[in-house]
Amino acid sequence: MIFIGVMTILAFGLWQGRQANRASPGYVASRNLVIAGGIALPLLVAIFLVGGSLKLGAALHANPPPDAIRIEVTGWRWWWEIRYLDAQDRVIAVTANEMHVPVDRPVALTLESGDVIHSFWVPQLQGKTDLVPGTVNTSWFEADEAGTYRGQCAEFCGVQHALMAFVVIAESQAEFSAWLQNQRQPAAAPLTNDRQAGLDVFMQHGCASCHTIRGTEAVGILGPDLTHLSSRKTLGAATRPNTIGHLGGWIIDPQSIKPGNLMPATSLEAEELNALTAYLQSLE
Ligand code: CUA
Repeated sequence: MIFIGVMTILAFGLWQGRQANRASPGYVASRNLVIAGGIALPLLVAIFLVGGSLKLGAALHANPPPDAIRIEVTGWRWWWEIRYLDAQDRVIAVTANEMHVPVDRPVALTLESGDVIHSFWVPQLQGKTDLVPGTVNTSWFEADEAGTYRGQCAEFCGVQHALMAFVVIAESQAEFSAWLQNQRQPAAAPLTNDRQAGLDVFMQHGCASCHTIRGTEAVGILGPDLTHLSSRKTLGAATRPNTIGHLGGWIIDPQSIKPGNLMPATSLEAEELNALTAYLQSLE
């Protein structure tokens, strides 16, 4: 369109130029007008576009409102550690691969990496923000509608980059408060023999060297905090739904589900696995 317009004006100018008297004042005036316009118009367009994008960029990077929920996210190969902070910057709850937020309330994120560069991205809620080792990046968003939003690592970070996903669950303030209150609690005590046996399996088969279950002696920090594992919708960073079958399959052979991930297979007898999954499923 622009090309055709410019060519039409050019052709008209060439045709006029042939007939015109080049010494006449009218000719000189229109020539000067064309030269001045040719400088001024592109300059105005450039100023308008640069100014607009600077303004938009400033708005996107503005500090979050002071009443924002504060969440720290750490990217690990290949899962997301999610920590909720109170107003004094104290960690009040730790979870993984599932972020709950209230609707219509700003959420301020602090983003770090534990190993390589990842990128936090929830396409329906915010733009990508990288998680860079040794650097703390910030971002914020607000969910206008309740729902479950899928997030995805958006920076290639190794063999399971594609399965480094998570979910953001936006819910009412009351639902969010109840959820956070539950996440703050230590794990439910194993009240049945089966669950106690499951906790024993957890402690004896090396699970506790990587995972924390708050309220027990399991304080490992290499893998996700499992204190409220069964409250989560997914396993393996949104790789599988969190059902007892997938949980058992993940424990016995996580490498076939997510090859290269840092969790080794665990060799268990059937009754040990049953007890362990019964215990983990009680961690609501
Ligand atoms: Cu983490 Cu890609």
